[in-house]
Amino acid sequence: MSVRAWFPTYIYREPLARAGLARFNAELAEECRRLRAFDAAGRRWSAKNYPGGFTSYASMNELHRFSSTFAGLEQKLLRHARAFARTLDLDLRGRSVRMSDCWVNIMPPTAAHSLHLHPLSFISGTYYVATPPGCPGLKFEDPRLSKFMAAPPRLASARPANRAHVTFPAEAGQVILFESWLRHEVPANRAAGERISISFNFNWS
Ligand code: NI
Repeated sequence: MSVRAWFPTYIYREPLARAGLARFNAELAEECRRLRAFDAAGRRWSAKNYPGGFTSYASMNELHRFSSTFAGLEQKLLRHARAFARTLDLDLRGRSVRMSDCWVNIMPPTAAHSLHLHPLSFISGTYYVATPPGCPGLKFEDPRLSKFMAAPPRLASARPANRAHVTFPAEAGQVILFESWLRHEVPANRAAGERISISFNFNWS
């Protein structure tokens, strides 16, 4: 049968680097917790908009400009973003790619992050710093879901690529990249410890 898939939705997952991640993550985790202690505006915003957790999304979202640790992370992530852009066949010749936003998310037990996308960027992603056993992954939604107007349900045995959702496990040291329009969420953290991640956006000019 001559049927092929077209218009794919790409999701990228790779280790941040080949070595030295345990030490780098310990440094990042400490800095993330220090930031939470320091960032009163972020704690206030999180109390209203990120129940049970802390995010610096609305208060300190250019961490790569102010911290050498985060600037180091930016350098490492840039390489991944360029590799992902190549997979997407984006023409970046003579154009520059830069990290526009970078913020911290700390999810203690019970915290969740509802469905959202990342406006004003083209590649977005998350880097995992601390992922206690059993903590939730990153759940993506089929971007065509709203267009399935009269489709019957999928078989329970449907192939993974044909399902309406896919969940990537959260694992310290891993980078996940996606196109910024792709909606995603983090289900409630049912693990005993804090799940720490750093989210970011890339833009081009
Ligand atoms: Ni997100």
